[in-house]
Amino acid sequence: MKVVLTRHLPGNLGPLHKAFDEVAILEGENPLENASNKAAFRSADVAICTITEKIGADLLGDALRCLITYSVGVDHIDLPATKRRGIRVCRTPDALTNATADLTWALILAGSREIVAGERLMHTGGFFGWRPELLLGRAVNGATLGIVGMGRIGRAVARRARGFSMPVLYTSRTRVSEVESELGAEWVEWGELLERSDILTLHCPLTEASRHLIGEAELLRMKPDALLVNTSRGAVIDEAALTAHLGSHSDFRAALDVFEREPELSPGLLACRNALCLPHLGSADRPTRERMTGICVSEAIAFANGAPLRYELKE
Ligand code: DGY
Repeated sequence: MKVVLTRHLPGNLGPLHKAFDEVAILEGENPLENASNKAAFRSADVAICTITEKIGADLLGDALRCLITYSVGVDHIDLPATKRRGIRVCRTPDALTNATADLTWALILAGSREIVAGERLMHTGGFFGWRPELLLGRAVNGATLGIVGMGRIGRAVARRARGFSMPVLYTSRTRVSEVESELGAEWVEWGELLERSDILTLHCPLTEASRHLIGEAELLRMKPDALLVNTSRGAVIDEAALTAHLGSHSDFRAALDVFEREPELSPGLLACRNALCLPHLGSADRPTRERMTGICVSEAIAFANGAPLRYELKE
């Protein structure tokens, strides 16, 4: 059996060499844009891909039986096509929950307090000593946190909010009684969430229903000095509308780890001094990324051995 990885992954890939006759790791910045890599991918029995490769029907070769993505998100995969072809799809959900929740908090803190501006000031020689009004930010402690999507990551973000004495509001496809009883989170209607949140953080998957969930109308319903945080998928926000809103509402802030057309950003977004942008670092701590590799490797081997797949995507 042949396994193809679209990129080299951090951690231990050794066990794949024992379980498979052939292990191919593709090279290049955009590995599936090159014809010979495409052919190699299409010849695999098992393929391991990442979120930067758009896996459409054209890439699903006849031999492919199992596709494993090095991510929790699956919006880069044509799932109806995998289903039609009977290809099993696995992902790496649990491994990155805490890392993504931690980075969300880094954005909540840096988006509220003047951490980035302060660091820049140090480098540009602008620090002349403590001043009563130097780089005043917003309070995090006690602010109302709104969470969109109370899945694993949303819950981990809510748990961390307790340390900051923050009231937590949320909307989700279903109500989650444990976060209501354990964390005191309050389920509210969408409009109420937009209007009451001081900080609104997005943790829903990208689907046709969630694409542009936050657009001009929603931004206008939010508090004029709210902070919008996104570590889910860029296209959950209409980025052009957000860029315009940031330009015309100087008190509004956005702290973003994901973008609608990565690696491109909407024109003007980076120039907004009320936008803080990171290069999609949600799961980027070494132990997390190595755990994600471990899941991909063990799922591939389980598939090769005909064993149950622990992280197979359910309908
Ligand atoms: C994911 O897993 O979906 C992240 O965006 C990348 O780790």
